[in-house]
Amino acid sequence: MKAKELKQKYLQFFKNKGHQIIPSAPLIPENDPTVLFTTAGMHPLVPFLVGQPHALGSRLTSAQKCLRTGDIDEVGDRTHNTFFIMLGNWSLGDYFKKEAIEMSFEFLTEVIKLPISHLAVTCFNGDEDAPKDEFSAQTWMDLGISKERIAFLAKEDNWWGPAGVTGPCGPDTEMFYWTGKSIPPQKYDPEDKRWVEIWNDVFMEYYKNDEGKYIPLKQKNVDTGLGVERVTAILQGLDDSYRTELFWPIIEKIEKLVGLTYGEKSDSECIQEGKQCWVDTRKKFRIIADHLRASVFILGDERGAVPSNVDQGYILRRFIRRVVRHLRTLGLAMEKIDLVPLAKFIIEMYQEDFVSLKEKREFILGELEKEQEKFKRTLEKGLNQFSKLAEAGKEINGTDAFLLFQSYGFPIEMTEELAEEKGLHVDMLSFQKEYEKHQELSRVGAEKKFKGGLSDASEATTKLHTTTHLLNEALKKVLKSDIRQRGSNITAERLRFDFNFDRKLTSDEIKAIEEEVNKAISESLDVVREEMPLQKALDSGAKGEFGAKYPEKVSVYTVGKDYSKEICMGPHVKNTSELGHFKILKEESSSAGIRRIKAVLE
Ligand code: ALA
Repeated sequence: MKAKELKQKYLQFFKNKGHQIIPSAPLIPENDPTVLFTTAGMHPLVPFLVGQPHALGSRLTSAQKCLRTGDIDEVGDRTHNTFFIMLGNWSLGDYFKKEAIEMSFEFLTEVIKLPISHLAVTCFNGDEDAPKDEFSAQTWMDLGISKERIAFLAKEDNWWGPAGVTGPCGPDTEMFYWTGKSIPPQKYDPEDKRWVEIWNDVFMEYYKNDEGKYIPLKQKNVDTGLGVERVTAILQGLDDSYRTELFWPIIEKIEKLVGLTYGEKSDSECIQEGKQCWVDTRKKFRIIADHLRASVFILGDERGAVPSNVDQGYILRRFIRRVVRHLRTLGLAMEKIDLVPLAKFIIEMYQEDFVSLKEKREFILGELEKEQEKFKRTLEKGLNQFSKLAEAGKEINGTDAFLLFQSYGFPIEMTEELAEEKGLHVDMLSFQKEYEKHQELSRVGAEKKFKGGLSDASEATTKLHTTTHLLNEALKKVLKSDIRQRGSNITAERLRFDFNFDRKLTSDEIKAIEEEVNKAISESLDVVREEMPLQKALDSGAKGEFGAKYPEKVSVYTVGKDYSKEICMGPHVKNTSELGHFKILKEESSSAGIRRIKAVLE
């Protein structure tokens, strides 16, 4: 089944169940300065989920264009996209769990005819904020899902929202499909990646307020989301979402353009045959296709943005420049790099469903051309400059990274990406300092939406920043004392922390680290900032990031009496009691000898 048919069937199914079809809202949200892009179908519906009546009634359905940048590092694998289309249905205080689950089940098994033998579901396990969702599990069992195919999981897996820091949210039940080649196992295993999430039914009956408390909403809502790209791939029996008609024609165009093939074999087959390099090349195809499609949709949005150094414009600039660079690394000569024909092709593929692309065609193409030409003028020189730095085999310090940013227009993560390819490290902290110094000089506002440092100082990121210091300390206590920070990246949703350690952590160690951080939180430790000369800071035992270069005078943040002491620019919370509950989501390898932890505050 093609994506178009999936979409039609979905909207028709819910129309038949009394839902009104609403058009996709713009990708760039209206009246919401807290987020850059619409990240889910519920986003435009927030006022109605918290009680405002909707003109079209209490049952709605849509195919919403969405964009998420949180997982941008993962784009290049088989399944991740930045821009995607989400099918959803909503009950605004109308039906609740039973009907929502029954409708999802009917759609999956009777309309798109997925065999029940390949389905599994997860439900919320309950915690101090909300009870265990036995009701949903029982509903699934009544429909024929076996007990073994139902897992109860905690908040990080089975709770959705709020989309921003505050807002409607609730426990969810997620549906999974077995994509393995073998017969599906009797029992569902949440760790087995062959079970792929296809749909999420969220029971939005809470409102998370700015104190982090979950307050019951006046009305009980349902919010669901089904990713078109992913489900289309499943319906076509493909394990790579770039092989469906939503991407494949773009991939073929890129193949022709660069004179390389994407290849028939799956990523895992390539790796088994020792051909990691094929997967690396394919990764570039995927990034080009994903980012160019996203750029076309941002430019062609009803509220379209243009490339710039702030907000949506900066995300767009990064996408376009990354596409240009990857075309070049696939061997395309600079003078042959032209995104316009590719973009024309993407517009044609999508304009029937998204008319604003047609209306804004000339604008999309014109802006793309301007931005690519601007970047092409400096890319070659910048790459030469980078090669000189790389040849010296040293880390890329802040001044160099800033020069690449300022004079050659290299977005910082592009410098990071180039450095990573050469096994080099970018000193993000000093880059950020250079960046800020420049901003002070040019009196530019406080918009700093680059990756790597604490780009926004919202409450959520500030909390995670302090948590990062606690985590750094806990790692030293639990694992070994010479752990050093090797990288950090914070978004409003999560922290990411890289450190030197040469093996996978055991589950006991992960638990002990979580306990250590939560202990520091529960002890309500004060966080104090002092300014002092660098030498004095080092003498007092303050830690800095490995390889970072610091100015003569630095800020030192101390947690508790001397629980943790770090050279850092902040900002931080005043007391650890403000933080909430710390939870590690993932521990994995980042590169040789470096581990990476992703964690959240609940
Ligand atoms: N809003 C929910 C999600 O994005 C359905 O998964």
